[in-house]
Amino acid sequence: MTPGRSVCIICVPLCLFTAVLCEFFSLKQQQSQTLSGKWTLSNANGSLSLPAEVPGCVHSALQRQGHIQDPYYRFNDLSYRWIAFDNWMYTTTFTVSTQLMSKQKVLLIFDGVDTVASIHLNGIIVGKTDNMFRRYDFPVRDLLRDGENFLNVSLLSPVLYASERREAHSAYRVPPECPPDVQKGECHVNFIRKEQSSFSWDWGPAFPTMGLWKTARLEAFDVLRLIHVSSVPLYNSSVSQWRVQVELLVDAVRETKGQLTLSVPDLDSEQTFQTQFLPGQNKNSFTLHINTSRDVKLWWPSGHGDRPSYRLAASVFQDNLLILTAESKLSFRTVELVQEPIVGSPGLSFYFRVNGKPIFLKGSNWIPAHSFQDRVSPAALRNLLQSAVDANMNALRVWGGGVYEQDLFYSICDEMGIMVWQDFMFACAMYPTEEDFIQTVREEVIQQVQRLKSHPSVILWSGNNENEAALATDWFNIPASQRPVYLKDYVTLYVNNIRAIVQEEDPSRPFLVSSPTNGAESEQEGWVAANPYDPLYGDTHFYSYILDCWDWRTFPRTRFASEYGFQSWPSFSTLQPVSIAEDWSYNSSFASHRQHHENGNQQMLLQAALHFDLPNSTNPVKRFTDTLYITQVMQAQCVKSQTEFYRRSRSEIVEGKGHTMGALYWQLNDIWQAPSWSSIEFGGKWKMLHYFAQNFFADVLPVGFEDDGAFFIYAISDLSDDLTLRAVVNVFSWAHLDPACTLTSDPLQVPRGSATPIFKQSVSAMLAGCDHCTRLTCLLTFHLEDGSGQRGPTNHHFLSSPKDAQGLQRPDIMAKVQEDGAGYTITLHSAAVAAFVWLDVGDVPGRFSSNGFLMVSRNTTAVFDAWRPTSVTELSRSLTVTSLRDIY
Ligand SMILES: *[C@@H]1O[C@H](CO)[C@@H](O)[C@H](O)[C@H]1NC(C)=O
Ligand SMILES: *[C@@H]1O[C@H](CO)[C@@H](O)[C@H](O)[C@H]1NC(C)=O
Ligand SMILES: *[C@@H]1O[C@H](CO)[C@@H](O)[C@H](O)[C@H]1NC(C)=O
Ligand SMILES: *[C@@H]1O[C@H](CO)[C@@H](O)[C@H](O)[C@H]1NC(C)=O
Ligand SMILES: *[C@@H]1O[C@H](CO)[C@@H](O)[C@H](O)[C@H]1NC(C)=O
Ligand SMILES: *[C@@H]1O[C@H](CO)[C@@H](O)[C@H](O)[C@H]1NC(C)=O
Ligand SMILES: *[C@@H]1O[C@H](CO)[C@@H](O)[C@H](O)[C@H]1NC(C)=O
Repeated sequence: MTPGRSVCIICVPLCLFTAVLCEFFSLKQQQSQTLSGKWTLSNANGSLSLPAEVPGCVHSALQRQGHIQDPYYRFNDLSYRWIAFDNWMYTTTFTVSTQLMSKQKVLLIFDGVDTVASIHLNGIIVGKTDNMFRRYDFPVRDLLRDGENFLNVSLLSPVLYASERREAHSAYRVPPECPPDVQKGECHVNFIRKEQSSFSWDWGPAFPTMGLWKTARLEAFDVLRLIHVSSVPLYNSSVSQWRVQVELLVDAVRETKGQLTLSVPDLDSEQTFQTQFLPGQNKNSFTLHINTSRDVKLWWPSGHGDRPSYRLAASVFQDNLLILTAESKLSFRTVELVQEPIVGSPGLSFYFRVNGKPIFLKGSNWIPAHSFQDRVSPAALRNLLQSAVDANMNALRVWGGGVYEQDLFYSICDEMGIMVWQDFMFACAMYPTEEDFIQTVREEVIQQVQRLKSHPSVILWSGNNENEAALATDWFNIPASQRPVYLKDYVTLYVNNIRAIVQEEDPSRPFLVSSPTNGAESEQEGWVAANPYDPLYGDTHFYSYILDCWDWRTFPRTRFASEYGFQSWPSFSTLQPVSIAEDWSYNSSFASHRQHHENGNQQMLLQAALHFDLPNSTNPVKRFTDTLYITQVMQAQCVKSQTEFYRRSRSEIVEGKGHTMGALYWQLNDIWQAPSWSSIEFGGKWKMLHYFAQNFFADVLPVGFEDDGAFFIYAISDLSDDLTLRAVVNVFSWAHLDPACTLTSDPLQVPRGSATPIFKQSVSAMLAGCDHCTRLTCLLTFHLEDGSGQRGPTNHHFLSSPKDAQGLQRPDIMAKVQEDGAGYTITLHSAAVAAFVWLDVGDVPGRFSSNGFLMVSRNTTAVFDAWRPTSVTELSRSLTVTSLRDIY
């Protein structure tokens, strides 16, 4: 009998009655000591020695101690390259209690080491790490001593390590060797299991971080330690019955028998199992059957229902002695990825069915919210995800070049109903398959799946980003004779290892090997399809910056659009803190430096110039800010046009293509202050695109487009009930604020979950019926309505490019800020029709109820939701209003 257990024998009977004592009991059983907090950090030659926070990283520590400035300031990413070429050491000292020392087993646990390190405790090496995405634990009981213990973690330069690994892999190259020059990045990131975008990306800087990026601690115990509990509900549709697969991942000092009780009290479900935990770390699975007499309430994605959760309790007794307790949150939902023949089409469908209901995925792609993960605050994370649901999104893809996000990310997605398409962290590259690489990836995948599989928000695992496409369409000039080598590596890594582990660990959700992929068809073709971008199968990524984005014929009518987008610049207030006056020109070296996509700045202007006059103010700063504005206008209108095409393609098959069931544009958020495809700027400010998304992702939406001389409106509905709607079209002259004429369709049934044609008129007939209207002088606005009034937002359709429009006048918009019960209301008064009206209050954080809108009435209002205290005076002083006619 160990002392720990004898104490417990006394307290167990009390434990059964009082939760407080139970906690005391488990504390006695298992002791935990944090090692997070202040450590000391030094570089290889000892010229620098400074305090450093754990969790944290070298860059953050250097900045906090004043050794470097803000790494995001101007060109500092280049100035601070040296940091990632040096080796660094984190050291700390600590004492441990005799109680902890007396335990049978003591583990030193790191929840995240970035990345390649050797760890010494009191002069003895306890282990090495090589993977940022794994938790590591090392037994240290016999190394601990009374008094001070010395712990140090020596980190190798990730850049030099990656390069050494590439040298060691001499048989054949594993491309790409280096990123394109325009990215100013580091090479061989595919040789290190680390955030792939930390060596630079086409939207982000190279900051190859090093550090202890998650918590560090000691865990001590005598019998058993619970590492993780997970619960995955499974539905048996043939008997309409739920069961829950519960897994206890435990570390046992020796073989331990006991009696496990699993229960979901709110569903009157409880079962008892005999358990036998083997020595060491091991996984123990149990199936709890949910009481069929109870009604299980389902978890639904945002816009489709509620998100109830249940409490699952687990406790293990040994001879009436409680040796382990655990709780888990449990939410019930099913998800299927449906790939089956479609009438009238050669390929296969590709859509998600949640709780038996086909759901159109509306959303975007998520990238790391900061180069330094220790700077991502819970508030910033919540604000970004809130912004996603507030723009009517129901899904995000956690992209494979970043990180598996922190627990809080998935908890918030569970809570808000954001479906997560979860990539594994491999992107845009070939990867090596040496034994040690495969082994560390296997452990990474096991741990991440175990960590995340209880979250109902996660609906899909996906092996990598674009690596099937890279092989299939030969991004890296691989000679045909060598292709089999790369194919074999591809199948080894993603199919034989990752897919096999996921299918073993998680039977509750689908797995895709890549994105884009042809899915089941890729599998038929040996996992790498001839054309992974085939619109008849799977998902697609599509980018074109040259073709006219206003023309829907530009876009592939895909089954599922998981990536597409256009760049824009962030607003001036976001750039200002990291730049100086000489940078404020579209031609400045700063503007080129922050652009990591080849010709990106030119492409934005070329695309904008297809439809808009470009800014030509003689005031250089105004010209710069006007240019930022026009890139946002272009991006918002382009992504709107593309997304609306996907949404209206939901119910149709045209030449075999269609039944589009997802639109996830690239990308939601930014990693720093720079031009990118994001709809939210670094810091959380919404670009015009994000305001547009709020409309183009609305549950009920009219989509207008022209085909063969006719103007069509499709009524899109994601609702669960059928609607009876009619379309109302207002024809406006650019020169007048009153409608020239109004057309209305007959009421029509719009089925739930459909895109239904509701209006068709020849454009020339429409204009002939309207006083003095031509394509150049008039534009259309339109909305849907039923007996109770307007349903969904008002949309617009330009009959010509605004640059060719006749009669567009300076609107001289006057704005007034007032404070009332709703917050700050901005009242606008316009003298003329005004397009893309943009309200900006500089660096006052917050957002407007709507923005970037078309103003076809003299007066309108918008409400500003401030994210910190402000005042009418501050807002009035900060407010600028820009519209299309104000920039030239
Ligand atoms: C120590 O290393 C730093 C950074 O790697 C370097 O700048 C410095 O010159 C070195 N100092 C000495 C004394 O070698
Ligand atoms: C780190 O640990 C090793 C082994 O104990 C030791 O040789 C080295 O001096 C330690 N470094 C520091 C800075 O404490
Ligand atoms: C569903 O339940 C039936 C009846 O108990 C059983 O035969 C079948 O194997 C179950 N299906 C699954 C997938 O577990
Ligand atoms: C199911 O729940 C009912 C109460 O709703 C309870 O009477 C019954 O014992 C439960 N059955 C099982 C198998 O737990
Ligand atoms: C950039 O510079 C070129 C040449 O000086 C000039 O023609 C062009 O208009 C400038 N572009 C912008 C957006 O300022
Ligand atoms: C519109 O705004 C102007 C200027 O603020 C005001 O004089 C006018 O009364 C407003 N008209 C309406 C209909 O609200
Ligand atoms: C800017 O462009 C507009 C329209 O093309 C033109 O009317 C105006 O004169 C130009 N202004 C300057 C300063 O070049």
